Amino acid sequence: MLLDREHELRERHGISFRITGVATRHLGWIADPNGLDPQACVERAPSRAKSPESDAKLTNIHDWLKAARTDVLFEATALNVESGQPAVDHIRAALEHGAHAITANKGPIVHAYRKLRDLAAARGKRFLFESTVMDGVPIFSLFHQLPVIHLQGFHGILNSTTNVILSEMETGLSFDESLKKAQSLGIAETDATHDIDGWDAAVKTAALVTVLMDIPILLEEINREGIRNLSAEAVRAARNEGRPYKLICRAKREKSGVTATVRPEQLPLTDPMAQITGTSSYIYFETDIFPGLAITEENPGLYATAYGMLADFVRATTI
Ligand SMILES: NC(=O)c1ccc[n+]([C@@H]2O[C@H](COP(=O)([O-])OP(=O)(O)OC[C@H]3O[C@@H](n4cnc5c(N)ncnc54)[C@H](OP(=O)(O)O)[C@@H]3O)[C@@H](O)[C@H]2O)c1
Repeated sequence: MLLDREHELRERHGISFRITGVATRHLGWIADPNGLDPQACVERAPSRAKSPESDAKLTNIHDWLKAARTDVLFEATALNVESGQPAVDHIRAALEHGAHAITANKGPIVHAYRKLRDLAAARGKRFLFESTVMDGVPIFSLFHQLPVIHLQGFHGILNSTTNVILSEMETGLSFDESLKKAQSLGIAETDATHDIDGWDAAVKTAALVTVLMDIPILLEEINREGIRNLSAEAVRAARNEGRPYKLICRAKREKSGVTATVRPEQLPLTDPMAQITGTSSYIYFETDIFPGLAITEENPGLYATAYGMLADFVRATTI
């Protein structure tokens, strides 16, 4: 995505970039302040650093950030529902180093949002995470444009994997065949049980409640049920009788806080959510100014998530 939009970034936003570090579990920590070959990074084959600064074998994020002379960190490790790690540590280290931190990983929002937000503010850096919910559709940025509005609640379809599985089961595939289809699209979580058992949807719900309603909520406080117990026959029968199943996220502000649920619900065909199929997503916000504000994201590809991170990059470096 960076390569694809390099010209516009430079000409329209005055941003030029150099990829100076890459790290994954298997590749280890690779840095070169003179720049790594972006195409080699895409092919997961960046050569180890040649410059003296990073000749030493790097073993941790702190040394790696220094060796790469990092201005912006893109954090996209796999979701860890229990602790948000190692992403929380990566983001904290980047902010402490003096870099902006951009993530597609929902774990840090649920487990460390306020601490990371406050650290970013203290360091005069940005902590941005637009790709965590609806693949980069401007949800968090939208609310930046709606100052002092009161969000009372929301509902929506936020997990693409289960939506693909339910849509495919309706057309006659088994649960396992439908899951394979979702995995082949590259949208399933690294551990697909996170999708099937509603964890991913619950983490997104928690992220929205925490950030947009300003109520930190624990995952245990979300009444969560996934789609594991729905048989293909039940899903097909529900569609045939005009009340299809969807995995629905809901949150509602109450006097004493918030109630939130993630569970399969049968919806009438008149409900816009009944029409959301495949990788599409939907969210409906209830605010004091706009009683109903809905966004539909139709059939995004993987580029949508990358775009969200790219848009955060532009926001972090220019706004
Ligand atoms: N794919 C989507 O549609 C989508 C949409 C929105 C948000 N997200 C979020 O984006 C993140 C990445 O998703 P993905 O689909 O790209 O996942 P993925 O294909 O499984 O890639 C995860 C990457 O994280 C690395 N990694 C995992 N644990 C690590 C650790 N402890 N230390 C260093 N690197 C580690 C892996 O390295 P190795 O390969 O070397 O193991 C791999 O490069 C997730 O948090 C996901 O929730 C994804």
